[in-house]
Amino acid sequence: MPNTTAPAVRGFDATSVLAEVRSATRGTHDALDALLPHGLRNLRDYGRYLGALLPLAEWLALGHRGDWAGRDAAWHDGVRLDCLRADCATLGVASAATGAPAPATRAHWLGGCYVIEGSALGARLLARDVSALATGHPEVRGARRFLDHITADPPRWGRFVRLLATLPDAHAAAATSGARDGFAIVHSRLAPGGITA
Ligand code: HEM
Repeated sequence: MPNTTAPAVRGFDATSVLAEVRSATRGTHDALDALLPHGLRNLRDYGRYLGALLPLAEWLALGHRGDWAGRDAAWHDGVRLDCLRADCATLGVASAATGAPAPATRAHWLGGCYVIEGSALGARLLARDVSALATGHPEVRGARRFLDHITADPPRWGRFVRLLATLPDAHAAAATSGARDGFAIVHSRLAPGGITA
């Protein structure tokens, strides 16, 4: 259920890199929603969700280059990956390498970051499902480090989209390609039969 109307941060040109990334990937988000039509109301779906985001977080962590660190340190979130790995281990969810090539440029990588940073918006809703799920499955209480981590700093999304919206137009294609790759990684884990990014 991504935003289909107004941008989340006011004042950005409709032709910004952010706008392009959003419009190019809106349909893919809808496809993800369709693969989790009831949110995370059962343990299997929660495991699928964590298991789909883990390779994305790994791809971003491994693909981050040291010489971007000064500008992008905040978006290179090793704690997020640690939390995901720990939750997956707790629930017995297997990791899987993506096989996707490393992001080619900083803009490509930031496009991939858009996918996981944006997922925090939906995670605020999904966290309620997980709280309910813990009633019948106590092990879930020890497997919500990732959700707690990515929902702990709501203004982070505003900071991220501001960065994306102010990338030079020349980087739009690379950022869009990174976001498509990021969504494809998630989608391929949720729907083993195919990728529609
Ligand atoms: C499974 C992995 C998922 C990923 C990678 C993902 C990714 C994203 C991204 C990138 C955005 C930002 C869109 C924008 O630019 O505004 C977003 C927003 C959102 N997503 Fe997801 N999402 C996922 C699953 C879900 C699910 C299952 C739900 C169902 C509750 C959901 C609900 C939302 C909502 C409500 C927003 C915010 C819409 C808004 O207020 O603008 N997401 N998600």
